[in-house]
Amino acid sequence: MSTDAIVLLKEDHQEIREQFRRFSGAGPNAHVAKGKIVDKIIELLTVHTYIENEVMYPEVRTLLPDLEGDVLESYEEHHVADLLVAELAAMSPDAERFDAKVTVLIENVSHHMEEEEQNWFPKVREGLSRKDLQEIGARMIELKKTAPRSPAQPSALKKVVDAVIS
Ligand SMILES: [Fe+2]
Ligand SMILES: [Fe+2]
Repeated sequence: MSTDAIVLLKEDHQEIREQFRRFSGAGPNAHVAKGKIVDKIIELLTVHTYIENEVMYPEVRTLLPDLEGDVLESYEEHHVADLLVAELAAMSPDAERFDAKVTVLIENVSHHMEEEEQNWFPKVREGLSRKDLQEIGARMIELKKTAPRSPAQPSALKKVVDAVIS
């Protein structure tokens, strides 16, 4: 199994997109089904955000200082998604604005993943060695085991608070 960081993150993106497609394909009154899909989306995004924020972004920022602007933009894009996720986690799936909020989350996260894959990953692949990327990937696999899976968990919430007050 490859531990290449970019391969791993792209696999996460595919899993997230699959849930986005399931949500978009669910009927307007499928509140229970959509609630479950959103629970899964929240879990996937919480874990993915955590390993990017804790490992991928800081590593790249240190090793490739030229990409700092991209990393800072990514932090902000994740922060917007975190706020939507925190609101959705506390919202009933039959609430008037539930579908609209999920749609905005899907649009934002899809844009962000697209930007990572089309623009950012190629620059990182060019700047780092295979060995670097495999070591970063191995650390992310390790961290996934203890990563928060819901925004209510203190380690995930702390990130949101830090982003707001710092
Ligand atoms: Fe990201
Ligand atoms: Fe990502």
